[in-house]
Amino acid sequence: MNKMLSKKVIGYTFTLLFILIISGVALFQIVTNLYVLLAVLVIQFIVLLLLLFHFFDKYVKPIDKVTETMDKLLKGNYHSRIHQPMSGSIGELSTKINSLARSLSELTISEQIQAEQLSTVIENSESGLVLIDEKGYIHVVNRKFISMFGKTPHDYIGYLYYDVLENEQIHHTVQETFLYEKHVKHLFSLSKNDEKIYLEIVGAPIFNERNMLKGAVLVIYDITEFKNLEVMRKDFVANVSHELKTPITSIKGFAETLLDGAENDPEARKQFLQIIFDESKRIQHLIDDLLILSKLEKDESAINVDPVEVGFVLDEVLPVINQHAEQKKIDIQVDADKELIFEADEEKIKQILLNLLTNAISYTPEKGTISLAIKDSEENVCIQVQDTGIGISKEALPRIFERFYRVDKDRSRDTGGTGLGLAIVKHIVEVHHGEIKVESELGKGTTFYVFIPKEQAE
Ligand SMILES: Nc1ncnc2c1ncn2[C@@H]1O[C@H](COP(=O)(O)OP(=O)(O)O)[C@@H](O)[C@H]1O
Ligand SMILES: [Mg+2]
Repeated sequence: MNKMLSKKVIGYTFTLLFILIISGVALFQIVTNLYVLLAVLVIQFIVLLLLLFHFFDKYVKPIDKVTETMDKLLKGNYHSRIHQPMSGSIGELSTKINSLARSLSELTISEQIQAEQLSTVIENSESGLVLIDEKGYIHVVNRKFISMFGKTPHDYIGYLYYDVLENEQIHHTVQETFLYEKHVKHLFSLSKNDEKIYLEIVGAPIFNERNMLKGAVLVIYDITEFKNLEVMRKDFVANVSHELKTPITSIKGFAETLLDGAENDPEARKQFLQIIFDESKRIQHLIDDLLILSKLEKDESAINVDPVEVGFVLDEVLPVINQHAEQKKIDIQVDADKELIFEADEEKIKQILLNLLTNAISYTPEKGTISLAIKDSEENVCIQVQDTGIGISKEALPRIFERFYRVDKDRSRDTGGTGLGLAIVKHIVEVHHGEIKVESELGKGTTFYVFIPKEQAE
């Protein structure tokens, strides 16, 4: 029994006693026989007690139960229900309260689900997020933000943004968002683990229903990859222009000399025309290689996979290569499983062989040896090109697959290289989901290993 109920019981008991005393005093005037008076009073007491019990059970207890349940609902316990069976209008009231409680608990469940979904989205967003109220206190920081700026959410939440966020650019963004009450965007960079990361920050004001500023959301994007790509693209354009400029200047110069009268000297004419011819060939090679690269990049996954027979590929590539090798008296030894068949893009495999073998010839002095091996190695086909050439230094080795990187620019140019051969090889290996490795020792020679999976995934 709760406190309220016991108070009521005491109250009712006192009322009962009061009625008995009053009626006893009143009856005492009429009834003179003491026994009769006592009997009447006892009967009256029993009747009143029964009436009181009935009244208490039928009205007071249910109303108390209803009040108790309502109190619990008001405190947010939406699972609370009235279980006591009741009749009449109180029964109807309790049914309605129960259904109200059910609706409230359904509503809170769906609210909880929505809140959970929202926090999942915020937490797993690929952008850093910060929520700041109108007074400048931080309310939310997500996981990505922590991964960008370090510390833990406890170090930020509940603090003023300018006390815990060190970056000046973030301060500016918050101030401008509050000042102008519109979207603000800034770029900035950070040094993290010796690496520079580029970030874009967007500040967005939040308004309430009365259009008053309630705070701001900061969204921080990591744009390092885009930035690097932009730098690469700029470098690439600069490199291509530079590579084209040299032969074009040379062609222009010799053509001018010829026009200025050198055409009348047969020897000079022949020599100059030969130079013009060689330089045009260089431009053509460069453009051919650029086209191959751009095609590879354009449709990365679009390789024409067919069964490729090693013997067939060699029959096409070796005559071209042997011609070059003979000029330098270089011996080419071939050790290949000619019947080996694997899935690949045949034209591209030929390109790998051509580029690696051309390099081996270019960077091997006269009378050297080149060995080519194509072998079955479990799930892969292993192509191995070894030479007894000049080798590549340890410092240069990680860079040789970069576009336009050459260890010795003049030497590469003399051999007609474009600086794109290995970049193309690497790209082809990647579109086949393969791997390329290189071992080299200065003055001794170089070995390239290419592994291509025998079966290409769809
Ligand atoms: N077999 C090799 N031996 C020595 N150096 C090599 C060999 N293959 C490639 N290189 C070095 O790697 C650079 C890049 O090769 P590549 O992309 O084919 O361009 P290039 O047109 O200059 O041959 C070459 O300039 C050369 O310095
Ligand atoms: Mg080359």
